[in-house]
Amino acid sequence: MERRLDFLPFGRPDFSDAEIDAVARILRSGWIGTGAEVQAFERELADYVGAAHVVALDSCTSALHLSLAALGVGPGDEVICPSLTWCSSANAALYLGADVAFCDVDPNTLCLSPETIAPKLSPRTKAVVAVHFGGLAIDLAPLRDMLPDRVLLIEDAAHALAARYPDGTSVGSAGRPTCFSFYANKNLSTADGGAVAVADARMAETLRCLQQHGQSADAWKRYTESKKLLITHVMQLGYKANYTDLHAAIGRVQLRRLSELQQRRREVAACYARRLSGEDLGLRWQQNVFEESHALHLAVVLLPLERLAASRDEIVVELRQRNIGATIHYVPLHVMPFYEQEFGPCELPTTEDVAQRIMTLPISSSMTVQDAEYVCDHLIDVLQQAAR
Ligand SMILES: Cc1ncc(COP(=O)(O)O)c(C=O)c1O
Repeated sequence: MERRLDFLPFGRPDFSDAEIDAVARILRSGWIGTGAEVQAFERELADYVGAAHVVALDSCTSALHLSLAALGVGPGDEVICPSLTWCSSANAALYLGADVAFCDVDPNTLCLSPETIAPKLSPRTKAVVAVHFGGLAIDLAPLRDMLPDRVLLIEDAAHALAARYPDGTSVGSAGRPTCFSFYANKNLSTADGGAVAVADARMAETLRCLQQHGQSADAWKRYTESKKLLITHVMQLGYKANYTDLHAAIGRVQLRRLSELQQRRREVAACYARRLSGEDLGLRWQQNVFEESHALHLAVVLLPLERLAASRDEIVVELRQRNIGATIHYVPLHVMPFYEQEFGPCELPTTEDVAQRIMTLPISSSMTVQDAEYVCDHLIDVLQQAAR
């Protein structure tokens, strides 16, 4: 079989001349920090997701951390999050001195559910971090209904910008704090960056204060009101997590291009659906991955290990030999040395089964349908060679 010469990464940013021009415009403007461009990006993103307020930050990690801080999570509290996620979903609580209780996932959605959360609820539960894994927007209404009123719900939507809930509304529009990522490989990338969408104006104000050392006025206010002497006070212990105009300029262009970028992801997914979703291969796909409501941040597939003489790791290595950047999302957190030492062993049967067989195939708006066909040709070949 013919092999491509260049490596196809699982995710790749997609920048046009418009992003490059936008960065040049900011560089020439004399103001590169947090200013008018960040404010414009926040407004445009709020319109896009249908949120009353958006606060842009330096990362989704900060968005999760500051959201939990603003909600008063602290020592003695417990925060529930899935183990099948990136470490930020859990670390946000740990930074605040709270404990984490890892929960299992549903085998079809690969996300938490009322059933997987129920055994983890305790009198100490203060919040649940719901991760929209891979870009599948889970229905949070049943979850909200089963949680006691005192338990806060926040959304880790790092993968889920452009995703829609089952009722057709956009992720970010539900009012509760919803955290997005603009990291290098995300559907909308600004190299790094994040944001919280939220309905509550007071919470948005608190986030703005926390992101700049808990100060009463930021550098942009001092600059734009430079004829006055603005004395800045630290009002509470804050952090350094502000977003910059340089990043926001890229974000504004990416947001304008988002439907075009999503369309390209859908073309790749359509090729995978056509070639790789038949019974004969035995691959199991995440629920709704081929629906329009899915953000398609990740194309994850569960391998039929029972039919194969090779492990998932061997399949991934073979694809990599063929210049296909297959990878793994995720090694579950509860089996990682740090979390195991902190919280002791815990059993999450579905997560552990999924973790043996899950594999991420390349998907990005930089990919062509030919790239996707190449992935399909080789994955089919690898699976046939590995068949028992
Ligand atoms: C599920 C999830 N949550 C949070 C984050 C953190 O995002 P960031 O890198 O913007 O801090 C990531 C990063 O990939 C993620 O995958």
